[in-house]
Amino acid sequence: MGVPSLLKSASVAALLVGASEAANIIQANDDGWAELYLRSFHNAMIADGHDAVVSAPGSDLSGSGSLNTTPTDRILACEYDSCPADTLTPTGTNASDTRLNWVNSFPATSMEYGINEFGPGIWGAGTVPDLAVAGPNVGSNIGFIQVEGSGTVGATCYAVDQGIPAIAFSGITTGNLAWDTEPVPLRSTLYAELALEVTNAVLAAGTPYLPDDVFLNVNMAAVEGNCTDTSAFSYILTRINTPSILSTSDTPTCGDTWLPTETSVMDDGGCYVSISVGTCSDKTDASAADQLTVLNKLSGLLSCLPA
Ligand SMILES: *[C@@H]1O[C@H](CO)[C@@H](O)[C@H](O)[C@H]1NC(C)=O
Ligand SMILES: *[C@@H]1O[C@H](CO)[C@@H](O)[C@H](O)[C@H]1NC(C)=O
Repeated sequence: MGVPSLLKSASVAALLVGASEAANIIQANDDGWAELYLRSFHNAMIADGHDAVVSAPGSDLSGSGSLNTTPTDRILACEYDSCPADTLTPTGTNASDTRLNWVNSFPATSMEYGINEFGPGIWGAGTVPDLAVAGPNVGSNIGFIQVEGSGTVGATCYAVDQGIPAIAFSGITTGNLAWDTEPVPLRSTLYAELALEVTNAVLAAGTPYLPDDVFLNVNMAAVEGNCTDTSAFSYILTRINTPSILSTSDTPTCGDTWLPTETSVMDDGGCYVSISVGTCSDKTDASAADQLTVLNKLSGLLSCLPA
């Protein structure tokens, strides 16, 4: 899409959503296209005026990192019987909602097909998504070991490697559920609202949405106890790894030269959303300069931990 048509569709969409910035958003995950957390977030983005398109694995492929192979013809039914057995096709689309697509391969491959095929199929040939999101994952992606192995992060970093800014979302409360579960449990809608809040804050800060090679790794605390309303949550800038002797300091904020680790913030028991700034080249923490860029962009959203 050329710049003039991009401006035109952006302004038309802006009329629909008022203050927030409508965007073409590609969405993957690693729990599969029919997982409820993904669908709740998708519905929340659509309701908010975003042109969101899902491209995710037909099955749960958690823990597959950045694996990426050409999809093969599918023989088994998709998870939760969300597609029939013997489709004998490498990808599939919900015939009554073509924004919903599965890929018979890994999370990163799904993101690739979303960017190259399913997104442009909805937005128009050649349209590059404004933003890519993955998840919310069912369960945490905190710290080096989980982040390295995460298919959610793998899908996110596939997009970043194509020059598309991207965010990985994970919800601490587990329990896989089918897309058509009724009633939708609070945890699924709450995680969707929190993820939308972060997404809109990134978009509202303008382009470039994120520095090159950078992704955001977002974890949302368990939905329990006092953490059952979006207004109870606060957003904390964190780091992925515990600093080693080789680490240089983080961007100074909240009276400290080190950011709290996402693990310590998620273990705290408070109602927090941790936001770490990662690099896709090695899935570790980004430079202090890139952290500062994100800090400035999200300053209206972020808070400090209580002293
Ligand atoms: C396909 O889309 C229709 C219409 O939105 C919906 O009722 C149905 O549950 C969807 N099925 C799957 C597996 O996504
Ligand atoms: C919930 O909030 C109340 C009031 O702030 C506090 O006293 C209580 O300890 C909190 N409960 C938990 C489980 O954090």
